[in-house]
Amino acid sequence: MDYALIESNDLDAGTGVVARGVRRTFGDVVAVDSMDLDVPPGRVTALVGPNGSGKTTLLLVLATLLAPDAGTVTVAGADPRTDPWEVRRRTGWMPDAFGTWETLTCREVLETVAAAYRLPRAGIRARVDELLELVHLADLADRPTQVLSRGQKQRLGLARALVHSPAVLLLDEPASGLDPRSRIELRGIVRDLATAGAAVLVSSHVLAELDTLADRAVFVSGGCTVSVRDLDVASAGPRTWTVRALDAGALERALDALGRVHGDPGVDGAVELELTGDDDAASLLSALVHDDVPVVSLRPSGGVLEQAYLSLTKERQ
Ligand SMILES: Nc1ncnc2c1ncn2[C@@H]1O[C@H](COP(=O)(O)OP(=O)(O)O)[C@@H](O)[C@H]1O
Ligand SMILES: [Mg+2]
Repeated sequence: MDYALIESNDLDAGTGVVARGVRRTFGDVVAVDSMDLDVPPGRVTALVGPNGSGKTTLLLVLATLLAPDAGTVTVAGADPRTDPWEVRRRTGWMPDAFGTWETLTCREVLETVAAAYRLPRAGIRARVDELLELVHLADLADRPTQVLSRGQKQRLGLARALVHSPAVLLLDEPASGLDPRSRIELRGIVRDLATAGAAVLVSSHVLAELDTLADRAVFVSGGCTVSVRDLDVASAGPRTWTVRALDAGALERALDALGRVHGDPGVDGAVELELTGDDDAASLLSALVHDDVPVVSLRPSGGVLEQAYLSLTKERQ
């Protein structure tokens, strides 16, 4: 895939997004109670929380589309309340649902957005072509957007967010409706943007969607930030692993002899146990092989994000 258009940009996100004590109510509904959030440049930050936890409301505040009742926010160094145009100039916003001008074609949508951002007229055509290629919509460039599937609309929404080469990217549930291939491509695009220096925030209520997409996760619940985790596998700390051997009995005996606390074998003979990290996994595998246990696989159970989420709910019990 050709990401030249991303790499060639000078993405200066400044301090990215910094939000402190953000609150926003709608009548008696407290959508965002008190949220703190950092979205550093060069990294992909996930905003994770169940439906109704206030993710979209917070994103709308960051994107200058809602005023907060309290708290402070800076986006690429600018305050959305006092300097909304500067924030919009530096920020790409992808809403959860792609509201669009249904009769316009994909190309026309992107050209209209490019003109609204006052991109130099001479460069618009080429820029739009690049973006359509990037999100694999070149074949549908001249079709009205109303014929697009949900996943295709999501991809057009991503292209629309990227038109003006923003340094801060706010994506609300971008993976929802995407097929597996499009999701992998989304991950590639988002990763390249972060590598080029962009500050990327991606929300989702589906943990599995974010696992390989994000470097760090901010967990929210009931309108409040509840935890921030690094998702780097190596630094993820203790987590549950699954080990499976051809001979479940031999595996159990060996684990017991090694003094390893483990669960009961599942139907496939796989056993779960807590390991402290990659080094621990490597030394366990080496010991089992040394003991002639016919090990078939040793892998982390579930994703890093899922484990972080589970350990979080465990802590809160
Ligand atoms: N415009 C609105 N008017 C009234 N209530 C709203 C409005 N927008 C959001 N809410 C409420 O605020 C809460 C948080 O919503 P939202 O930010 O959309 O959560 P999430 O994106 O995490 O699902 C929900 O209870 C929702 O019903
Ligand atoms: Mg939402």
